Amino acid sequence: MICIKDLILKLQARVRYYGYLYYSLNTSRISDSRYDFLVEKLRFLEKKYHNLLLNKDSPTLTIGAPVIIGLKKCQHITPMLSLNHVFDIHNYLKFDKKIKDFLKDKYISFCCELKIDGLALNLIYKKGILLKAITRGDGMIGEDVTNTVRMISSIPRQLQGINIPNKLEVRGEIFMLKSEFIRFNNEASRSHAKVFSNTRNAAAGLLRQKTIKNHIVKNLMFCCHGYGYYPRYTNSCNHYGRLKQLHCWGLPISGYNSILESHLDILDFYKKIKNIRNFLNFDIDGIVIKVNSIVLQHKLGFMSRAPRWAIAFKFFDQEKTSKVLKVIYQVGRTGVITPIAKIDPICISGVIIKSVSLYNFREIEKLDICIGDFVKIKRSGDVIPKIINVIKGYRSKTIKKIIVPTFCPVCKSVLKIDCRYSKIRCVQGLKCKEQLKKSLYYFCSKNGLNIYGLGFKIISKLVDNNFIKKFSDVFNLDSNLLVRLSDVGKKLANKIINSINQSKEITLSKFLCALGIKEIGSIKSDIIAKHFLSINNLINSTFQDFCSLKGIGFKAAHNLFNFINEESNKNSIIGLSKTLNISLYNTHYNITKADSNPFFQKNVVISGSLSSFSRIEVINLIKKMGGRVMSNVSIATNYIIVGVNPGQKFYKSKELNIKILLEHCFLDIVKTFYIDKKF
Ligand code: IVH
Repeated sequence: MICIKDLILKLQARVRYYGYLYYSLNTSRISDSRYDFLVEKLRFLEKKYHNLLLNKDSPTLTIGAPVIIGLKKCQHITPMLSLNHVFDIHNYLKFDKKIKDFLKDKYISFCCELKIDGLALNLIYKKGILLKAITRGDGMIGEDVTNTVRMISSIPRQLQGINIPNKLEVRGEIFMLKSEFIRFNNEASRSHAKVFSNTRNAAAGLLRQKTIKNHIVKNLMFCCHGYGYYPRYTNSCNHYGRLKQLHCWGLPISGYNSILESHLDILDFYKKIKNIRNFLNFDIDGIVIKVNSIVLQHKLGFMSRAPRWAIAFKFFDQEKTSKVLKVIYQVGRTGVITPIAKIDPICISGVIIKSVSLYNFREIEKLDICIGDFVKIKRSGDVIPKIINVIKGYRSKTIKKIIVPTFCPVCKSVLKIDCRYSKIRCVQGLKCKEQLKKSLYYFCSKNGLNIYGLGFKIISKLVDNNFIKKFSDVFNLDSNLLVRLSDVGKKLANKIINSINQSKEITLSKFLCALGIKEIGSIKSDIIAKHFLSINNLINSTFQDFCSLKGIGFKAAHNLFNFINEESNKNSIIGLSKTLNISLYNTHYNITKADSNPFFQKNVVISGSLSSFSRIEVINLIKKMGGRVMSNVSIATNYIIVGVNPGQKFYKSKELNIKILLEHCFLDIVKTFYIDKKF
């Protein structure tokens, strides 16, 4: 036994010594594989003879795998700030102007850098030796990742050169190369280990891991882009100079850092970097522009969490890679089943994305997408995220095909495949709880009866607990039930019930619109109501009757006829017609010539969306002011109200020389003639 004890202690000393050479002095006397062998041997012996209790101070606790390290919290010497960011030229120019106005100088030098998409890291060096490596955390306190960082080859354990300060805080980005990421994931997938969805997640996962995998961590990269505590006696008085000094001491810095003055040169730098972005072997998400002079940086100072002297100019129209974890099926209001890809969460332009719609099965086929695939996701402008393509090079053997569902995920009925529209539908109508919930939500929303406070959450609970089985059940609710069931207070419950009671007075047109039939919006509902005059007439009409209506196309007629003749819908409509007081005109709709305003007896068309009102609110306002809302532009049109993203109607109105009202003009009219005069 004495022999074994000696052997273990000697081996510990050897591993400690080689580890010191390797991790602290950045040199080695033996090959990596020999070192790994010694560590493994030591670990084996310590485990086998654990009764000797020799592993208390063993180097196996701080190096190599599998050592569990709890990530301790650790304070930065100086706070680690973040960056304010802009996404467009306009806002970048605002930053540039602010700086120049504040400093009262047109000629300011900026250090322009790449914004590497990794994790911020703070390295504390004492007398040139790496003492601590801390993640950003909340900016004041981060996690101690020193043991892991000591293994990263691109981070020196000891600084080289002259004038090395006693104490130094180095800030930079830790990241994984794209090529390394592919290699790492391929290996992980072969051995059924965890694969990461992008380089940033991979770097974060490896850096913060509890079980240190020496050979993997070693290949993480580091790029220094700043400093925290930096002694004044070092003679670099600008940011660029300081980075170069850090480089002389052995820290890696980016070769793309550039000193630029004019905003035109900076915009050129931005464009150039954006163009080469895909050719770089690491991910970046923008550029960082920093005032170069340290004196001017001090003059400009900080805001709460970011300096005034720097800005991240991010790439907006951004693509990111993530992994499809699973596919779920969503039942829409009209029964259409939409496949939704659940992905490993990613952040694109400041928004966390966890789900992406796959639209339909034709799209799935077109993309040739499987569960487990890596996909490129794009979020252009302010719109919904979209999968652009599958990265076939990352595809592993463990991927699974996306199966077309046979049963509705909610009501379990057999789904119907609609080949013409490549859509799959649940044809149970309002018998399917999900369709009932969504239809009810629409029915009660601003587009429908405009019932105050009855949101999707409350409706869901009411449906799930069978208090609402059909639309007309809404009118039998009482406030006690709402309080009991849905965590709403008594006051709100009373308000909801009052609003429900008020909504019982409704016009036929509004009622039709509230049903949420596809393509039957407010304008078409008006046409239908004026023609059929009552619910009774409506439900007894034929498809031909609907088709012959002016302003109602084939598709709309088809949707209307199908909806009304679906059994559960028909029963619901009949039930509602008994509960509600459906009239042809609104009793408050009382306009005389004396009230005239620009819209009185005029034909108005709306194109694009307005930021102040929903479409239905605009229509109602115009109607209340005595105007007529038309769906299409013709020579009979008097006004066109134009919002954001106007379409064909707008261009046609220009050709016909129709008076255009932009949103603010429309608002002025509404204010003057509707709100102020209490129309
Ligand atoms: S400077 C006080 N420069 O971006 C200035 N940050 O969104 C602090 N980043 O937390 C940061 N590349 O992790 C700076 N060239 C660069 C950068 C950079 C990437 C990261 C950094 C920071 C985050 C802010």
